[in-house]
Amino acid sequence: MKIHTLKLNSQASMLTTALLAYGTTAWSADLPTLRDAFKDHFLVGTAINRAVTTGRGFRRSSEQVNTDIALVKAQFNQVVAENEMKWDSLHPRPGADGYDFRAADAFVSFGLNNNMYLVGHTLVWHSQTPHWVFAGTNPPPNTASAAPGTNRFGRYNGPRASREELLQRMRDHIHTVVGRYKGKIKVWDVVNEALSDGGTNTLRTSLWTEIIGPDFIAKAFQYAHEADPDAILRYNDYGLESSAKRRKLIALIQSLQAQKVPVHAIGSQTHVSVAWPSFAEMDRALTEMATLGLPIHITELDVNSAEGGQRSFGADIANNAATTQGGLVSDADRKLAEAYAGLFRAFLKHDPQVKMVTFWGPNDANSWRANGKPLLFDGNSQPKPAFHAVLAEAKRAAAAK
Ligand code: G3I
Repeated sequence: MKIHTLKLNSQASMLTTALLAYGTTAWSADLPTLRDAFKDHFLVGTAINRAVTTGRGFRRSSEQVNTDIALVKAQFNQVVAENEMKWDSLHPRPGADGYDFRAADAFVSFGLNNNMYLVGHTLVWHSQTPHWVFAGTNPPPNTASAAPGTNRFGRYNGPRASREELLQRMRDHIHTVVGRYKGKIKVWDVVNEALSDGGTNTLRTSLWTEIIGPDFIAKAFQYAHEADPDAILRYNDYGLESSAKRRKLIALIQSLQAQKVPVHAIGSQTHVSVAWPSFAEMDRALTEMATLGLPIHITELDVNSAEGGQRSFGADIANNAATTQGGLVSDADRKLAEAYAGLFRAFLKHDPQVKMVTFWGPNDANSWRANGKPLLFDGNSQPKPAFHAVLAEAKRAAAAK
């Protein structure tokens, strides 16, 4: 008991030191790095946007963008495009000449030029998919899909493609995109967020399920494997910290495995809050996911510190205003540090299964949940106490070896 107390005291003192130092430790190239701290455990990555890959834009000054880029290059060894490889970005118009690969190519070039491990996000999703993908001549059912919007202009309720037409479009899209980056993109989020959040149905209702049927998932993985047999094909979803949604994930993946569908990894987005999950809850989630016998990737990690986000575990940007309102919780820096410490303690405990931890943004200024200040670096790329708390977990793991 005494040793345990001593350990806790040493962690607390590290955290206190970090809290006191915050604001005075400017980001600098000689700061310890996440990539080095965890190099014996898992890759540490981040989502990046086109400002980082092109060096300009996105409502940030060129000086701020340059600092963002330096932070990404110094701290991370894996990157994923936040938006630039989604269907509405790289295939906005119908057919073979409807592609626009400029932003995706810039992402791949940035990653290759900086020796990063590249992840592609995402091939098939109910959101950010252009309406043309689902359009056809079949009248929509009278109960028009309640599925959420297929892109930022809202859901598609027009006449629809047939199952065969939509499967062909999906196959053409996947073969073209995966084929273009074969050997460069190592992991693909083949299907994103197909599970339902509530109720007893395993899958959410979407235009993919309504037009093709539930086997759209198996087909997507089949097409991606055809296009690049060496790519790691991942199923990606949020809210898997919840036991109810995790049961659906396990049912889905076991069904795909029974059909010999080439699903090679689980992507757990981990958009969470300072209130939940604790180490114990994340430990249980990873233990149960590991029963599938597949590598686990933490794919979109951020920890919301806003009052409005402490009871929400969704990841739909449409709810972002609500989940980032109300200002920060009290003592936010300490709570964020303790939350991240617990999460990384769980990731390290499940090191054999956890192969990658990707943050959904390099710093708070580049976060879809900026008002929730959810990341390890603030808007000026200064390390927050949570950064030091995460490093302390790596040190603790090294000392325990
Ligand atoms: O690029 C357009 C721009 O031309 C236009 O002027 C502007 C205003 O309409 O919109 C811009 O597109 C926005 C896009 O981000 C790029 O900034 C979309 O409106 C906006 O909806 C989109 O939000 C992204 C969201 O996915 C879309 O659902 C977020 O940046 C992105 O962080 C978020 O990421 C998702 C993952 O892909 C899947 N998991 C959940 C996660 C959070 O929602």
